[in-house]
Amino acid sequence: MKKNKENKKKLGLFYVLKNIFPTIFKANPAAFIVMALGFVVSASGATVIMHLNRNLYDKVASLIGGNAAFAAVLPALLAVVGGKIVLDLFRTGQFMFIDLGYFESNAVKLRSTIHKKLGRIDPILYEDKDFNDTVEKADQGVYAALGYLNSVTSIVFYCIPYLLIMSWYLFTIKPIFVVMIVLIFVPAFLVKLSQIKVHAHMEDTVAPYRRAMNYYEDVLTKPKHFKETRILGAGLFFRTLYETVQAIFIKTEWKVIRKVKLTFFYGRLVTLLGYVGVLWLLVDSLLAGEISVGAFAAVFTSIESVFWTVSQIADESSGLVENAGRVSNYIEFLKLEERGGEVGEIADGEIVLQNVSFSYPGREEKALDNLSLRIKSGETVAIVGANGAGKSTLVRLMSGIYLPNEGSVTVGGLDTAKYTPSSIRERMSAVFQKFNRYKLPLRENIAISQGKLQGDDGRITAACADAGVEYSSEVYPKGLDTMLAKEYDGIELSGGQWQRVAIARGLYRNHDIIMLDEPTAAIDPLEESRLYSGFAELSKGKTSVLVTHRLGSARIADRIVVMEKGRIVESGTHDELIKAKGAYAEMFDSQAKWYA
Ligand SMILES: Nc1ncnc2c1ncn2[C@@H]1O[C@H](COP(=O)(O)OP(=O)(O)OP(=O)(O)O)[C@@H](O)[C@H]1O
Ligand SMILES: [Mg+2]
Repeated sequence: MKKNKENKKKLGLFYVLKNIFPTIFKANPAAFIVMALGFVVSASGATVIMHLNRNLYDKVASLIGGNAAFAAVLPALLAVVGGKIVLDLFRTGQFMFIDLGYFESNAVKLRSTIHKKLGRIDPILYEDKDFNDTVEKADQGVYAALGYLNSVTSIVFYCIPYLLIMSWYLFTIKPIFVVMIVLIFVPAFLVKLSQIKVHAHMEDTVAPYRRAMNYYEDVLTKPKHFKETRILGAGLFFRTLYETVQAIFIKTEWKVIRKVKLTFFYGRLVTLLGYVGVLWLLVDSLLAGEISVGAFAAVFTSIESVFWTVSQIADESSGLVENAGRVSNYIEFLKLEERGGEVGEIADGEIVLQNVSFSYPGREEKALDNLSLRIKSGETVAIVGANGAGKSTLVRLMSGIYLPNEGSVTVGGLDTAKYTPSSIRERMSAVFQKFNRYKLPLRENIAISQGKLQGDDGRITAACADAGVEYSSEVYPKGLDTMLAKEYDGIELSGGQWQRVAIARGLYRNHDIIMLDEPTAAIDPLEESRLYSGFAELSKGKTSVLVTHRLGSARIADRIVVMEKGRIVESGTHDELIKAKGAYAEMFDSQAKWYA
């Protein structure tokens, strides 16, 4: 909380503007200029209407005085009516343009800056538990930024021009009338600011009670709580809590509302003083014969709109102060360090790890501890070891998603810390332990690994066959078009069926290197063994890394690497490791009965 406040101070109004304005302006310069001009036209229009009114009142006064005929009033009347219609039409069009055309499309563009940024930052940031908050705050910051710009543009291009044009017009009637703007501006501005403050105080005071009431209400009414509260008979407990808090809420709210209303009333009194000043100036000039009745009436009736404009400036500027913090969340997010690097092309499928150590952010223990491993191009290596040994972490480093804290990882001759992630992964495919279950049709669920939604059906069906996805069976009623999500009128797959889809997705991607991090846990052992045998056949000439707990499957590898506590403790072919009678042999014995 404290940190947040400091932030707000440091990142003031101008800092935010300087950072946000260019982004939005560049997104659509023509639209921005149209919008700004529209505001200025609308501000001038208001003064034109005032002038037309003045003319009309003067004509009416002459008519009443018997100095003019009705025919002379009619054009003035038509001018006022016509002017108002034109201005209203213009403003309607203007707001449609701003709301729909301008701000909505900017919101989309700004949010996509977040998506793009996320594609460039270092994925290790996701391991920081606060990072998701950061992203969410940046997302909210987008809306705050748009509101911010909305406020600034309406102040700069509407309110200020309006007051300037109005001042000039008043000046032309009688120079001293310029003072009127000050007479309205100062009290109105001060009063509005104090009202905003009291309002914010009211929200702060009652919000905790409202939140508590909402929570108790949820517990009493929402399905996710309902069963337990019913079984425990906790209904009365929460109803009592609800009623108690409600009583406090009403009492507090009443006190605050009284204060708010009184502030409003005192504010009204102060602005009334400004009104009296204006009226005095007007009456004095009218009686002295310096202004016409029309000018008197026109100025008098425009006080309200000047007052409204001033309040708007106060409103919008308080919004600016309030939103600065949120907007800065977005700006700071865009400034997060990115994973860069040189562009290169991998020479072959060799993967070399030299004295690699790695710890997850915020954790002391090393997930990988001084580990060295060389996987030759075209070799199939199985990685085995107990839960938490570091197998998945090893795969994450070999694929260049995470970078080592010490030591180096090279893929096809490219150091993962020096080359761009896309250079490293250009010819690499992987299926992770926690793979995605996309709510998309089967075809896209597979084709997505090539970065395109449009796939090559021939290759997709081949990948399905290799991974054991029975796309033509009754499991997939619409074949490749079957939607894999119940809520979109599709089907629900079992865990094992999903794993096959994920494997097909991994196989579909063009690759020289492929890593499978245990995507087969939900597939029965015998079937996994069969799958891997087929896989060995498919992957001839390609570098393959398989992580598995089932040693029967590991046998198909050219080499088996045994991990323990972030280190490699054994390495060799199945036969060599059995002969060595070490950790592998022991594990294999205990699993052998599965395959007997
Ligand atoms: N995202 C993470 N944040 C913090 N620590 C992690 C994270 N992922 C793994 N670890 C830790 O790193 C160590 C290695 O985990 P890893 O997931 O690499 O093991 P594994 O061999 O793949 O295990 P399993 O067989 O259960 O998949 C463990 O101590 C684990 O607690
Ligand atoms: Mg794992």
